[in-house]
Amino acid sequence: MKKGEKGILFGIAAVVLLGGVWKLVQLKDIDEKDMRIPFYSEASVEVRDRAAFLIKQYDCKDCHTLWGTRNVMQSVPAPPLDGIGSLKTEAWLYEYLSSENPQSILPTRLKPEYRMPSYAHMPEADRRILAKYLASLKVEDWYLDEVKRVEREKLYGVAE
Ligand code: HEC
Repeated sequence: MKKGEKGILFGIAAVVLLGGVWKLVQLKDIDEKDMRIPFYSEASVEVRDRAAFLIKQYDCKDCHTLWGTRNVMQSVPAPPLDGIGSLKTEAWLYEYLSSENPQSILPTRLKPEYRMPSYAHMPEADRRILAKYLASLKVEDWYLDEVKRVEREKLYGVAE
């Protein structure tokens, strides 16, 4: 290898190495907040297990995201359920799930097949568990505004 070629190779290696070091410095600078998950549940294991079963049985995740996931192939723009317990009380949630016409409580802007269905005929004990569990789904204060913004966007379609 000629001297000039060696020099070029060395130059490239130095650039790659410096790039890597720069990336590491940047990573270190990322705000700690971005690395934390803002959602948590205060529910007991019993309530969580029972609610998880019901959420599956009633296909809530066909339309809603929960713990950041939803059923694949579904694209209904319903509000996420993560953090809902910081926006609504257990009493409100129970009433909403028990309503014959949920749209009389919360307006909709969606086609009928995408709207929140009525669960008025779900056994009362199940509606109570779901309301309790949903009310336990909290968001950390530093992420509350973002959860409110997403809810507004999904419910009213306000682009921000
Ligand atoms: C067919 C789609 C669909 C299914 C299935 C569905 N939802 Fe909804 N849900 C919606 C939509 C859409 C809204 C927003 C109001 C509307 O447009 O009717 C909503 C609203 C809500 C809200 C109020 C959210 C807020 O920000 O105030 C809660 C709570 C909720 N749903 C819980 C549930 C639970 C629990 C289940 C399962 C038992 C469920 N949903 C099943 C579509 C659905």
